[in-house]
Amino acid sequence: MSIDFPDTLLKTLSAAHAVAAFTGAGVSAESGVPTFRGNEGIWTRFKPEELANLAAFMKNPELVWEWYRARKTIIAGVEPNAAHKALAALEELYGDVTIVTQNIDNLHRRAGSRTVVELHGNIERNYCMTCGTPASNASVLSADGAPRCEVEGCGGLVRPDVVWFGEMLPEDEWDRAVRAMARADVVLSIGTSGVVYPAASLPLTAKQQGALLVEINPEPTPLTPHADVFLRGPAGSILPDIVSVLRAHRAVQNR
Ligand code: OAD
Repeated sequence: MSIDFPDTLLKTLSAAHAVAAFTGAGVSAESGVPTFRGNEGIWTRFKPEELANLAAFMKNPELVWEWYRARKTIIAGVEPNAAHKALAALEELYGDVTIVTQNIDNLHRRAGSRTVVELHGNIERNYCMTCGTPASNASVLSADGAPRCEVEGCGGLVRPDVVWFGEMLPEDEWDRAVRAMARADVVLSIGTSGVVYPAASLPLTAKQQGALLVEINPEPTPLTPHADVFLRGPAGSILPDIVSVLRAHRAVQNR
């Protein structure tokens, strides 16, 4: 084990029934998906608020689609990493594991996590803004400029099924996230800068409701002062370490 594993964390994790993870772009960084705000971030050329919003899309759908096609292509070519897999492995140890993610890359599900709440949508889906009909990834990737709905007589503008700045989060996903946070004995906040609300309020609410708040990140964030435990480093190393320690602990308990 390479991390310093505080006793409080081991005690709480071994007694826990419900665990929730709150994840951000950093959890997919080791898969090769660029984060939003780091030095290598995809927003170095554009600010998130400038591109990922409805007004920007209506003004220049071709530009926004060019950017989403690039991101879809990156995401289609990557694989879940050790962090995603370790989170999926938590389901062997706990009956109640919920992954609440801000990521739109579908990598938690691809790693095998069964209960995934997608607060910001899913980049693998698209829909027509006029009639709501889903559009396939193949059709939007091969379109020239901004894709149009293929339903006869519609021709509406197709958009990615992701949440943009200024838009409401999907209500059912938000409710599921709030319930998971309320149930959780431990919340792991992983690879998020914790600056985009309302999502970033979830780990804080969980802590107020009695959960142990554990943050995993190579850098401190605005959430760090509120964390009960801050494990500094990449998620792809720390999460597998946590799972190994827990498996070893369970094995001793079950002897
Ligand atoms: P950010 O890019 O803001 O933050 C990524 C975080 O991951 C930073 O705190 C990094 O230090 C950390 N990080 C980098 N590499 C890591 C690693 N290997 N292991 C663990 N952590 C690592 O991304 P988010 O917090 O996800 O919203 O951004 C939140 C939201 O802002 C996104 O969902 C998106 C964006 O605008 C919408 O699109 C609505």
